[in-house]
Amino acid sequence: MAAPTVAARAHTAVGAPAERREGREKVTGRARYAAEHELPGRAHAWPVTATIARGRVRSVDAAAALALPGVLAVLTHENAPRLAEPDDPMLRVLQDDRVPSRGAFVALVVAETPEAARSGAEEVRVAYDAEAYDVTLRADHPDRYEPEQANGGHPGRREQGDPENVFAESTVRVDTAYRVPPLHNHPMEPHASTAHFEGDRLLVHTSSQGTTVVRATLAALFGMAEDAITVTARHVGGGFGSKGTPRPDVVLAALAARHTGRPVTLALHRRMLPSVVGHRAPTLHRVRLGAGADGRLTSVLHEVTTHTSRIREFVEQAAVPARVMYAAPHRLTVHRAVPLDVPIPSWMRAPGEAPGMYALESAMDELADELGMDPIELRVANEPDAEPDSGKPFSSRHLVDCLREGAHRFGWSRDRDRTREGPWLVGQGVAAATYPVLVGPSTASAQALPDGTFTVRLNATDIGTGARTVLAQVAADALGVPLDRVRTEVGSTELPPAPLAGGSSGSSSWGWSVHGACTRLAAALAVHAGPLPPEGLTAHADTTGRADAESPYARHAFGAHFAEVAVDTVTGETRVRRLLGMYAAGRILNARTARSQFIGGMTMGLGMALTEGSTLDPAFGDFAECDLAMYHVPAHADVPDIEAHWIDEEDPHVNPMGSKGIGEIGIVGTAAAIGNAVHHATGVRFRELPLTPDRVW
Ligand code: MOS
Repeated sequence: MAAPTVAARAHTAVGAPAERREGREKVTGRARYAAEHELPGRAHAWPVTATIARGRVRSVDAAAALALPGVLAVLTHENAPRLAEPDDPMLRVLQDDRVPSRGAFVALVVAETPEAARSGAEEVRVAYDAEAYDVTLRADHPDRYEPEQANGGHPGRREQGDPENVFAESTVRVDTAYRVPPLHNHPMEPHASTAHFEGDRLLVHTSSQGTTVVRATLAALFGMAEDAITVTARHVGGGFGSKGTPRPDVVLAALAARHTGRPVTLALHRRMLPSVVGHRAPTLHRVRLGAGADGRLTSVLHEVTTHTSRIREFVEQAAVPARVMYAAPHRLTVHRAVPLDVPIPSWMRAPGEAPGMYALESAMDELADELGMDPIELRVANEPDAEPDSGKPFSSRHLVDCLREGAHRFGWSRDRDRTREGPWLVGQGVAAATYPVLVGPSTASAQALPDGTFTVRLNATDIGTGARTVLAQVAADALGVPLDRVRTEVGSTELPPAPLAGGSSGSSSWGWSVHGACTRLAAALAVHAGPLPPEGLTAHADTTGRADAESPYARHAFGAHFAEVAVDTVTGETRVRRLLGMYAAGRILNARTARSQFIGGMTMGLGMALTEGSTLDPAFGDFAECDLAMYHVPAHADVPDIEAHWIDEEDPHVNPMGSKGIGEIGIVGTAAAIGNAVHHATGVRFRELPLTPDRVW
């Protein structure tokens, strides 16, 4: 592998399987999460959730709740402190009588203990004026429209050539439809915040993927200066996108703190999450692939219909990966949305790519069947010279290497046959993966101390990924010092501002500024004469990142997923026996934490394939599955042997480390690989996730 740009000094830290620095704190229970800050006089809040899907609050009777021992206050839209109008309507809590969706917060009980608050919430009587509602997504819904843009600023529609006619005239055609249900992030730590006003200052501990934006949002809502607010997120038990921007818990905790004058903790109950912190919107896919007898694609058409909330447009960009993957001269990718009375959808790990690549990669498998071609060879035959939609060259791609090397390691055979073992049918499947490389502006400082140690500071967030550790590795190599001489401080708005842990962009963005600050510090130390002053020597960096639109390159990570499944012909149960992921994701900064990210994503893809899915119940207007009993995420017994590997790749067109992003690509394509394996095993194509026994039987 070529030397990284930190050349000229020892660079042994980056890439090493360094253990995460907060590991001991976490496993010994010393790590403090947002709800665990036991401030003197702390009170606890419990929300009251709307039982109608649409309408107005006619009245709130809090008398019985207030009469309970320990209950301090009941906030409603009538007495809650006023907020400025938020950009995100999800944060417009207790400001008027409107109920936009079932499960929305209509009151908040504050009490001495969580138990008293919860009892109080059960005693609050809310009367509603209910209105007719609609939560059912249909492709032929009369309100369906075509948005200008899908999420991420992507154009809603792209069309090149004459896809409809060329498809109709193609020698081999696949015209197929898939459905991905609503999905929920369900991080291990439900959303929680502790807020405290100290004079004119607001101090907040919150479970968030990025507190820089939390602080800016609170400042705007409460009409405060940003520097009068401190927000920390030292430890976060996952988010998967549902903590990417502030959620109602942090606003409610601050409202309650202001109203009562006490520190207030609000820890949402897991059953509240599906209705208030976002979900992956369901997607209906129509995919048409036209090809010649040689397997070369003539046309790719991917049409996506999804739901959005009536109060905020959110369009899952599921047709976007079809703009990146395969060469075809005639192409259509389009998004359509149906506004419904549903909770506002939001980001969930690999938004767009996860459902979009399930559909595209399943359709590629169907096309391989039609052609009688090996699915790997079909993909190789359609490898583009440049990004099909933009015509830009790829900064690096290596998808074919991932397919070939993955096939080798997995033991993929071109003439594979399904096998039968008693009641089990066993088959194998493959699918490709892609995720865009995103990088944002970041700042950092690096300080050299007289004792020979270094401290790197920036408001990065470690959501359980190992960010602290990886940033120390980047710093150590840029400084040319051993890893154990470098400390990292992250997770507070008191540190230099940095973007969120989202879009698989964290390490690329933060690492760039850490690299910059450390490179400057190293240069300053090189010319420094004599001992360091007690405060040491400090250097800063302010890195801009490079917006995608400005890069002459199409920048994406790629990968290939392989699955072996066994399907029980008696019960319809599908068991995944083996999963293998092979990635081209730029320079891998930490072999241990990267593997965790990859296999974590693959495990989430396994859940998406087999068990995860929510139902919007038309009778109540809400998700039927609201806890981990009904919404089954993979447990240990569901997760087989998982392998994650990567090829040596260093992308020179992203950042000084040569890294891409690794947080999301593991989920992309995994569900398709498993679905394709189920088809191989059974000979039957199932096109609706998840592949639960009732569907497969
Ligand atoms: Mo990820 S869905 O960008 O946190």
